[in-house]
Amino acid sequence: MVTFTFPRKIAYNVNSLEELLNISSIFNLKNFLIITDKIIEKTDAFKNMKEGLIKNNINVKVYSDISPEPNIETVDKIIDLLGTDDIDLIIAVGGGSVIDVSKVLRVKILRRDIKSEDISPFVSLNIENKKPLLVVIPTTAGTGSDASFAFVLKIKENGNEIKYASGNYELVPYETILDISFLKTLPKKQMIITAIDGLANDIEGIVAINTNPVTEGIAIQSARMFFKYLPKAIEYDEESLSYLHLAATLSGIAFSNSGVGLVHAIAHPLGSLFNIPHGMAVAIIMPYVIDFNYRDENAKKKYDEIKTSLERLDGFDVKNTLTEHLIDLYRKVGQPLKLREIGINENEYKNKINEIADLALRDSDLAFNPIMPTLEEIKDILNKIY
Ligand SMILES: [Fe+2]
Repeated sequence: MVTFTFPRKIAYNVNSLEELLNISSIFNLKNFLIITDKIIEKTDAFKNMKEGLIKNNINVKVYSDISPEPNIETVDKIIDLLGTDDIDLIIAVGGGSVIDVSKVLRVKILRRDIKSEDISPFVSLNIENKKPLLVVIPTTAGTGSDASFAFVLKIKENGNEIKYASGNYELVPYETILDISFLKTLPKKQMIITAIDGLANDIEGIVAINTNPVTEGIAIQSARMFFKYLPKAIEYDEESLSYLHLAATLSGIAFSNSGVGLVHAIAHPLGSLFNIPHGMAVAIIMPYVIDFNYRDENAKKKYDEIKTSLERLDGFDVKNTLTEHLIDLYRKVGQPLKLREIGINENEYKNKINEIADLALRDSDLAFNPIMPTLEEIKDILNKIY
């Protein structure tokens, strides 16, 4: 069985205030709860939106104490602190952490009987179309969480905090609002790595063993947009920012319905052992994994489909492989290619290669990669990326 989920509505290149007022009048919603983080809360984009809502007689509550890697208890804390009985619209303004907390928060408001840890694809939540609805205003261009049914939050297990990833199709936000005044608040370096993470989701999703025709079509379109618009988006060109924002949401739709692969399987342990931001780890690993997967005939065809689309439709120079296009993109935006360039100590890294390879081999995303690598093959990639 193949199922496919995505948000009911994607509004892109819009003014978030106007769109929220629009939602308010269509559904008669007056009590909004905005979930965000401390940095975004201080931006003009956020203040303008909030003031505009209040001026239009919307009751607005804001919770902004979301850490970069929030734990599942954050959700209960919000409910205890703010009282959420009267809330009829939750607005997540942020990146993956803010969005994922908001998804689980909505479930908990509607279903007090369900424990966050019990949310899985295999239970029926019966919350579809019930108030509060969830709309998302993404402030990065890469997470894709605004378009997906998944969430990642930390939970305690045997005294340790571990990342807990799950999902349910009823968690897909009702609407995603892409307003570039929020994307403009993102520093250039973060824009580069979050966008390359989004591009990795496309490139991994299209060759994943679970891929399907919808993912393929959407991922190719999204990948073309990342390649084409990232170089100008980092100069804050408005048209490019708008297309980059949309590319990220499309990549969220594509990969969350197909899975990712070896890039992510390596990025998870590498990122957590060396404290490397997820997008940076993904960016450095990706060219080497594409080269590794090129030996799979089917993967080669898919990679070449993106390559050919770039050359035939978008006027890129003809190159031998998709990897060459990727490295060219890195050169244009100043993305490092090796771990040594981002200050990782060589000895410390070499001492941890076995551990990273071992953890990558056990990562749940690996199951979707078109080729199952051996431990030695992962170690070879880990040596190459230094
Ligand atoms: Fe990712």
